[in-house]
Amino acid sequence: MMYKQVYEAWQQDPEKFWMKAAEAIDWVKPPSKALFDDNAPLYEWFCDAEVNTCYNAVDRHVENGKGDQTAIIYDSPITGRKSKISFAELQVKTANMGGALLAQGVQKGDRVIIYMPMVPEAMVAMLACARIGAVHSVVFGGFAANELATRIDDATPKAIIAASCGIEPSGVIAYKPLVDGAIELAKHKPDTCIILQRDELQADMVAGRDVDWHECQQGISPAECVAVKGNDPLYILYTSGTTGQPKGVVRPNAGHLVALNWTMKNVYGVNPGEVFWAASDVGWVVGHSYICYGPLIHGNTTIVFEGKPIGTPDAGTFWRVIEEHDVKTFFTAPTAFRAIKRVDPKGEFVKKYDLSGLRYLFLAGERADPDTIKWAQDQLGVPVIDHWWQTEIGFPAVCNPVGIEELPVKLGSPAVPMPGFDIQIVDDAGKPLPTGELGAIVAKLPFPPGTLPTLWNAEDRYKSAYLETFPGFYETGDAGYVDEDGYLYIMARTDDVINVAGHRLSTGQMEEVLSNHPDVAECAVIGVSDALKGQLPMGFLCINAGVDRDPSEIVAECVKLVRSEIGPVAAFKLATVVDRLPKTRSGKILRGIMVKIADGAEWKMPATIDDPAILGEIETALSNLGYPAKG
Ligand code: COA
Ligand code: AMP
Repeated sequence: MMYKQVYEAWQQDPEKFWMKAAEAIDWVKPPSKALFDDNAPLYEWFCDAEVNTCYNAVDRHVENGKGDQTAIIYDSPITGRKSKISFAELQVKTANMGGALLAQGVQKGDRVIIYMPMVPEAMVAMLACARIGAVHSVVFGGFAANELATRIDDATPKAIIAASCGIEPSGVIAYKPLVDGAIELAKHKPDTCIILQRDELQADMVAGRDVDWHECQQGISPAECVAVKGNDPLYILYTSGTTGQPKGVVRPNAGHLVALNWTMKNVYGVNPGEVFWAASDVGWVVGHSYICYGPLIHGNTTIVFEGKPIGTPDAGTFWRVIEEHDVKTFFTAPTAFRAIKRVDPKGEFVKKYDLSGLRYLFLAGERADPDTIKWAQDQLGVPVIDHWWQTEIGFPAVCNPVGIEELPVKLGSPAVPMPGFDIQIVDDAGKPLPTGELGAIVAKLPFPPGTLPTLWNAEDRYKSAYLETFPGFYETGDAGYVDEDGYLYIMARTDDVINVAGHRLSTGQMEEVLSNHPDVAECAVIGVSDALKGQLPMGFLCINAGVDRDPSEIVAECVKLVRSEIGPVAAFKLATVVDRLPKTRSGKILRGIMVKIADGAEWKMPATIDDPAILGEIETALSNLGYPAKG
């Protein structure tokens, strides 16, 4: 079947489509039907089924004679380590860690926070939780103690699993003090911390609370896979919203299994047994779906890569991994390619490796600029597929489904909607807009299996953030348009989320942190265009009357504050002191105009501006920071 036929088959009978896709999953109790709409507009899928995600990702492959196949390749150019774990070995590891969690009192439905770098143990920890029906919440290592504390208070974990350290190009980053600091800050206290001691740094243990990763697995009974209900949560993954309180995206077991498994062949074009590599981090949704769960559920080999696209040791690392491990489909963020292209514009490193086994490069997480796509196409000689999705969705919503049909690539577009997604472009009042017109991107409800059914502890926020602006539709938070061939173009966010090196961050959250500086009266944070990271946050600070300090000192303190409160991942390094912020007469800060000025884009004086002279002051402040950037 071709794409159009597959999409139409879903449109005509979604229930039949998803029940058919569900046949690829091994159920403890098969679903009697797919969609459960009794609580519309809150929809759920496969609720009456019973299943175990770890069983589908690991055990069933062993039972099907694939025990010797490599499940995980660990390739860590930053430490020089490499290893392989077969499905049979992974079964033992997850059973042992699952048993250790049970022995520590973690039960089905309990939450476990995982704070680990890119080591295979992070995946073992995730799968072990799935095995015993515990709900994991992985927190990206680049977040600071305060962010970890927010998540501890929201998820109220019974246990935390952490590594002693992560390794970044800047050196060894001690994780354990951040865990200790977060637990001190949080109101909720976990009973246990399981610590993986890495050779690079041994962490101090807190007596009575901390246990060693290896020691806690001694003398326990290995855990069996327990049956959970189809709509029981597999994980919670926090993502940025408009405020400092991150949104806990809930991922249900059954829909996630069905949807991810479907995408591996149909979207990514890989067959079981082949190597699939997503160069991301388990702390992000890409890591959950396409480093951990998707490839394993589908019987692919996955790669845990601990390194960077450049500097570990050079801009040829990605190509070396692709050649050495015979990667068939490779997935990363455009920013990684921009980093490589900057260091190796002529592709000298690409030429050193045999990439003939590679079939596709997939890009997502941020806008893929045409220059980067063209460079990647020329260098790699394979189709470069931009695709669009979000943490909330969990798998590609708009894509070129190469496993079904390779559609023509249009630069700047992630292509067409996948089954499950009826994407529409609407105006502020929810009225559908004609082809080519820019508007809010929405998806008709019900949203397909595997997408978020709610936010953890925050059903009202789920409704207000996603379902209420356009009744009957899910609000994506992105703006864009559809062309005459049905290709979608993503143009901007409609909220204050920015995308820095493929990492989703909230400028509103940064403003909340900056406002806590004693000398800051008012502030605004905007996302300015950056040739490497796509966007960078930039802060404008108005200082309290009577404060007589060197502005550069205040700026330096603010930069430090964001780093210590949110974390290095925020990449907040640009800030300036201004007398006033441009506002409308009703007091709304004109952030959009500030972005345009910073990016050197065309802008018009807003009719509602309170004092036009302030924009001149902003232009001067930006010019002092070197913006608009040249080139
Ligand atoms: N643990 C601790 N610190 C981390 C971290 C982690 N897991 N990941 C990143 N950081 C730190 C970095 O060390 C850096 O700190 P610094 O300010 O002291 O230098 C900061 O957070 C910002 O990191 P990053 O955004 O990765 O920027 P970078 O300048 O180190 O690297 C790229 C730039 C483009 C090479 C890098 O962002 C990259 O490889 N991106 C790939 C895209 C990706 O993985 N996207 C995920 C979604 S698909
Ligand atoms: P995250 O939840 O971190 O995956 O970020 C999701 C957001 O990243 C989306 O809402 C978009 O704003 C942006 N994004 C993801 N993929 C793309 C893409 N292919 N093109 C443009 N923007 C994208």
